[in-house]
Amino acid sequence: MQRRMAEPYKIKSVELLNILDEKEREEALMEGGYNTFLIKSEHVYIDLLTDSGTSAMSDLQWAALQLGDEAYAGSKSWFRLEQAVREIYGYRYVIPTHQGRGAENLLSQLKIQPGDYVPGNMYFTTTRAHQELNGGTFVDIIIDEAHDPAAELPFKGNVDLNKLESLIHRVGADKIPYVSVAVTVNLAGGQPVSMKNLREVHELCQKHGISVMFDATRCVENAYFIKEREKGFENTPVKDILKEMMTYSDGCTMSGKKDCLVNIGGFLSMNDEDLYTRARELVVLYEGMPSYGGMAGRDMEAMAQGIYESIDDHYISHRINQVRYLGNQLIEAGVPIVRPIGGHAVFLDAK
Ligand SMILES: Cc1ncc(COP(=O)(O)O)c(C=O)c1O
Repeated sequence: MQRRMAEPYKIKSVELLNILDEKEREEALMEGGYNTFLIKSEHVYIDLLTDSGTSAMSDLQWAALQLGDEAYAGSKSWFRLEQAVREIYGYRYVIPTHQGRGAENLLSQLKIQPGDYVPGNMYFTTTRAHQELNGGTFVDIIIDEAHDPAAELPFKGNVDLNKLESLIHRVGADKIPYVSVAVTVNLAGGQPVSMKNLREVHELCQKHGISVMFDATRCVENAYFIKEREKGFENTPVKDILKEMMTYSDGCTMSGKKDCLVNIGGFLSMNDEDLYTRARELVVLYEGMPSYGGMAGRDMEAMAQGIYESIDDHYISHRINQVRYLGNQLIEAGVPIVRPIGGHAVFLDAK
């Protein structure tokens, strides 16, 4: 019998739930056409649809909402968010967006030309859709094992360097605007990428003058897996691992609804000044002014606070182990799931 890990927090507020009997649950399922996206949340007792935007905010995040500066330009809350991103992730420039896909839209429009190829370690739906809308072709460069739900590997999100290198040789570096690296890989079941692999991808790309853009949505989870599984990082704080990880990229898109611990928000980051200047212009058309980009001042305050809280070793260890606890229970009960158990979710092996 495995043990649960004690929570590194106290719960101060509760949200009441409806408890439906079997007949009511059946009716709710039928009403939603057996589609989990069409079932009313008030009919769901334990909601495991997604981790996106569903985490509870801390007391300090709720308090931060009150500090939100809703000025149209020059908001204090924006400067606080910009500072948090610079300090924790290490990027020079930040463009706020309403959520991750807003950042993907900007990045794809700014970097991709029709006929380009965008390699990635598997794809996320909206990320790939934006790449293709702008005339790019997605090329999967994740290791083969990532497509096998039963393969047990510590870093099943790794990029296959041979696949990347042969693509560069086949189409030419000038047809590859950037390599998109997700840390962790959602569609593979929340699988991480090793520091060694990130370093090697970056080196290879630098050699060919190609930039690396992370999908940093679950980057803190990835950093935790490195601490747990990669030799040499056992005693390094997650925040330092994260900082090193980010140095192997030239920027990122971020869905704040996951590892920034908020219910809405996102950003695009980069180190390149020219890209930043162009992004500052484009964000105005799709999201809002570069000092709020689709978020209220209070959302930016909560996100800045969430970014600082997310890198606490006790917090992230508890979070990953909570998911692992559920996954192991399912394995014990004989339910087929994607292995190994990933960071943000347990994926049922539907086949
Ligand atoms: C890996 C990954 N990238 C990007 C996104 C898009 O982010 P958002 O939902 O904030 O638009 C998601 C959302 O689920 C995601 O899981």
